Amino acid sequence: MCGIVGYSGSRQAVEILIDALKRLEYRGYDSAGIAVCGKELQVYKDKGEIAKLQESLPVMKGTVGISHTRWATCGRPSKENAHPFVDCTGRFALVHNGIIENHMALRRELVARGHKFTSETDTEVLVHLLEESYKGDTHAALVETLKKVKGTYAVAVVRSGSNEVVAARKENPLVVGLGVGENFVASDVTALLNYTNKVLYVMDGESAVISPAGVRLFDESGQEVRREPSTISWTIDDAEKGGFGHFMLKEIYEEPLAIHNTLLGYLDDISDGNSIGSSRFSSVKIVACGSSFHAAMVGKYVIEALSDTPTTLELASEYRYSPGTKELPLVVLVSQSGETADTLAAAREARRRGCKTYAITNVVGSTLTREVDEVFYTRAGPEIGVAATKTYITQLVALYLLGMRMGIARGTIGPDSLRSMRSELRSMPKHVRTVLDNSSAIEEATDMLVNARDVFFIGRNINYPTVLEGALKLKEISYIHAEGYAAGELKHGPLALLDAHTPVVAACVKDHTYDKMLANVAEVAARDSPVLAIGFEDDTELNAVADRVIRIPKVSPIFSPMLITVVLQMLAYYTARRKGCPIDKPRNLAKSVTVE
Ligand code: AGP
Repeated sequence: MCGIVGYSGSRQAVEILIDALKRLEYRGYDSAGIAVCGKELQVYKDKGEIAKLQESLPVMKGTVGISHTRWATCGRPSKENAHPFVDCTGRFALVHNGIIENHMALRRELVARGHKFTSETDTEVLVHLLEESYKGDTHAALVETLKKVKGTYAVAVVRSGSNEVVAARKENPLVVGLGVGENFVASDVTALLNYTNKVLYVMDGESAVISPAGVRLFDESGQEVRREPSTISWTIDDAEKGGFGHFMLKEIYEEPLAIHNTLLGYLDDISDGNSIGSSRFSSVKIVACGSSFHAAMVGKYVIEALSDTPTTLELASEYRYSPGTKELPLVVLVSQSGETADTLAAAREARRRGCKTYAITNVVGSTLTREVDEVFYTRAGPEIGVAATKTYITQLVALYLLGMRMGIARGTIGPDSLRSMRSELRSMPKHVRTVLDNSSAIEEATDMLVNARDVFFIGRNINYPTVLEGALKLKEISYIHAEGYAAGELKHGPLALLDAHTPVVAACVKDHTYDKMLANVAEVAARDSPVLAIGFEDDTELNAVADRVIRIPKVSPIFSPMLITVVLQMLAYYTARRKGCPIDKPRNLAKSVTVE
């Protein structure tokens, strides 16, 4: 996720482009850049936050321009990889938010035709393609360029000598702001609220030409589109959160897109990848902390089920105390931030022991990425809420892909099951959306939790880690004491704590654990504990044993953690909201834990 701004008017562009960009910093903050068209095209960019860029900004005169704040997904954060990018003739500057999937092939062709690249990014192909397509009309050239790319984008372009900003979008947000004698384009309305509250939402596949005189919108076929402007009544604070009350909720609602982006490019070439996942290791060890550890636990079930590779787990803070083994496992380190001190120490220790290391992280260029042999990037975009939500879901995606890749390499996944797993993963964004559409039922279910002092979460097998994560979410943001338990363990102690005031949340998917789960739920109900069960949409038995049931779309049980987790995240969120807790910044917690 990155932030884009474009301006065309009569005022000096630079101040507006920087001020508006700052409002988008929540979308990305590892590097930033600006291009202004005056007598000639001037571009300035750097690694770091926008304030740093602003401090060193040279004088840039001109009334048209674009700016960008980056969250790296392809190419580390650096000055070279910061946007805008300029073509070989120096006429065009371009900023982009999204992922160009076929950039490697396009880059090879462009290099063969003499184009010189200055960055490692996927984006840079766009500006070189634009240069080739340009025949006197920037809009036509951009439309032509976008026909050649596979992937997702919100893109804005300026050309030296022109007062137009040309923009287009596919699966990434873009909004046009309407002023008097000046117009704007931005990733979202947050950037524009200081200047206008009249906006035109650009729809998927559409493009726009913005000049001081007006705005023209075009559909995919090039036909001009008329649209009534919308009036925005949000404050800047509301807008940053996209109208959601908290970043956490916004980030939960971003999960379908985060899953989609993390899968982009990986599902298709899963069988011919040459990565570590395709190599044969006799065992795997997954190391992580907190929520990432719960994702790792799901990963253990997935890797063992799909590839028959024995997999062990270690909390990162404990890894150094574990004895090394003669046979070296592949060590997988999971960390959304890539900066967790315990996980970094474990990565170093794993390498010291001679193990191959593979990191799963959301932050390009984070310290962890420099400490390991190979990296898989989840593409969740920046996560501002302290509670991991969309990064957790995308860690699961990464671990499914790793398990599938290992299964292909070991011959434990045949073409038929590969086909059906691919199709299930592709459907996951849709299924998560269905869960989100059921938010009112989840919110109502918080009646059962909001006044509780203690809550138990129970599950079996692959949904045992899921309930550990559900319990962690609840305690972290609502301050209610919550325990996740393997359902079979209740009777070995915690059952003593159950009574009518202690609710139990049970993950009950119809798989080989189902009958035993129902028996555990009955045990709980017999102690008068209120039971909230989560089960498949077609389950007809749960209503008889549970006080309330939340239903999720029917998927193969191995993928059910993704959907149950979303329910549990929302449950924690709505409970904390009813209690008036500071959800995005829970007391005593930090987003990345850089002490051991
Ligand atoms: C999750 O909601 C927590 N904030 C916390 O447990 C977190 O998952 C843990 O600190 C690990 O962080 P990392 O993924 O950045 O390494």
